[in-house]
Amino acid sequence: MDAVDVIRTKRDGARLSDEQIKWFIQAYTDGDTVADEQAAALLMAIVWRGMEPDELFTWTQAMLDSGEIVDLSAVDRPTADKHSTGGVGDKVSLPLAPIIAACGACDPMMSGRGLGHTGGTLDKLESIPGFRVDLSKAEVVGILQDVGCVIYSSSPNVAPADRKLYALRDVTGTVESIPLIASSIMSKKIAEGGDALVLDVKVGSGAFLPEISMARELAETMVRIGEAHGVKTTAMLTDMEIPLGRTAGNALEVTESVEMLQGKGPSDLEEITFALADEMLALCGVKADPRETIANGTALEKWREMVGAQGGDPDAALPEASERKTIPAPRSGFMTKLDARGVGIAAWRLGAGRSQKGDPVDHGAGIVCLAKPGDELDEGQPLLELHTSDPAHFEGAEAALDGAFEIGDEAPEPRPIILERITP
Ligand code: URA
Repeated sequence: MDAVDVIRTKRDGARLSDEQIKWFIQAYTDGDTVADEQAAALLMAIVWRGMEPDELFTWTQAMLDSGEIVDLSAVDRPTADKHSTGGVGDKVSLPLAPIIAACGACDPMMSGRGLGHTGGTLDKLESIPGFRVDLSKAEVVGILQDVGCVIYSSSPNVAPADRKLYALRDVTGTVESIPLIASSIMSKKIAEGGDALVLDVKVGSGAFLPEISMARELAETMVRIGEAHGVKTTAMLTDMEIPLGRTAGNALEVTESVEMLQGKGPSDLEEITFALADEMLALCGVKADPRETIANGTALEKWREMVGAQGGDPDAALPEASERKTIPAPRSGFMTKLDARGVGIAAWRLGAGRSQKGDPVDHGAGIVCLAKPGDELDEGQPLLELHTSDPAHFEGAEAALDGAFEIGDEAPEPRPIILERITP
C-alpha cells in the first residue's frame, strides 16, 4: 500500500477501498509510514470530495480499532449517554448524568475540555475542590456500579487516531467537513462502550455549525454511524442562538446546575435536559420520569454521590471571581436579542476559556445573564454581570458584547429550543 495512491484515489473523487482506509489510519497512527503532510493531503481531499456512507463506516471503524473500547460488561444496568456539539452556557451534562442514574440507568460520560468560546464539561467539574476527572478503568466501572453515573476524561488509548488526526485538522483548515467531524465525534462516543447515545446538535450563532442544514446533515450522519456500529442513536437539533440558562463560565455553571437539581433551574435548561433524558431512557428501555427525580431529590442525591466518588466535596465553596462589573440596560423596553457567540467570547476573554490546549482556566470567571430575550427592562437595570480575577479582562469582554444584545419596544416571539428530532 502506498500513501500517495490513497491520496490520489480520494483527490480524483473515487471511493477509498476498505483496505486503503484501514492501512492508512493504522500507518498514520503508528507513526512511521505516513507523514503528517500526506495525512493532511488526504484530509483536504476528503473535505472536498466527501465520503460514501459505507466508506465512512469503515473510516470510523478504523479509528475505533486504533484504540480500545471501554468494557462495561460488568455494569448490570442499561447504559446511555449524550453528546453535545457544544454551546455557550451548555451545562446540560452536569444535571443530566445524575438524573439518568436516579432513573435507574447508567451514564458513562467521557467528556472533554473547552477550547475557544464554548466551555468544556471537565473544566466546569474541576472547579469543584478535589474533583478528579482522570480515572482508571476500574474506578469508572466501580463508580457506575455504585452511583450510576460518572463524568471523566478520555484516555490516550481511546481512538488515538482521532487525537492525531484532530490535531492535524486543527492546523490545516480541515476541521469543517461533515464526514471528518462525524467520525471524530462518533469514534470517541462509540469507544465509551454504552448501549445508547443521544446527540444534541446545536444550531445558531453560539454553535460550532451555525446553519441548520449543516447541523441536520451532521446529525443524520452521526445517527447512521452509531446505528451501524450497534449503538442505538438518535439526535436532537437544539437552539444555540442565545446562551442556555443564565450563566456561562465554569463555577457559575456548576452552581446553576445544582440549582436545577434543587428544582430551581431556568426553564430552557430544564426543557433540554428533560427532553434528552426522556430520549436516553427510551433508547435504553428504562421507564421513568426524569422530572420526578428532581421533585423527590434523588437526582441531587446522585450528584452528591458522584462528586464524592470522584474525590470532590459537594458542600465546598466554589471559586469566585474577585472582580465584578455590571452592564446596564441603555434604555427601557424588551430584550429582543442576546447573542450566544458574543456572550461566549466575552466569558472566554474574562478567563473562563483557553486559547491554547493546556492553558489554565479561571474557574470563577464568566458571565451571569441577568436578563434574557423577552424580559421587560427599565433603563439602567443590570443586564449582564461580568466576573473575572483580572480587571484588565473587562475591556476585551465588553468589546465582545458590543452589539450582542438589543432592546426594542415589542417583546420578541418566544423561540423554540428543541428544533428537530432525528431518528435512524
Ligand atoms: N469535536 C470533535 O470531537 N471532533 C470534531 O471534528 C469536531 C468537534
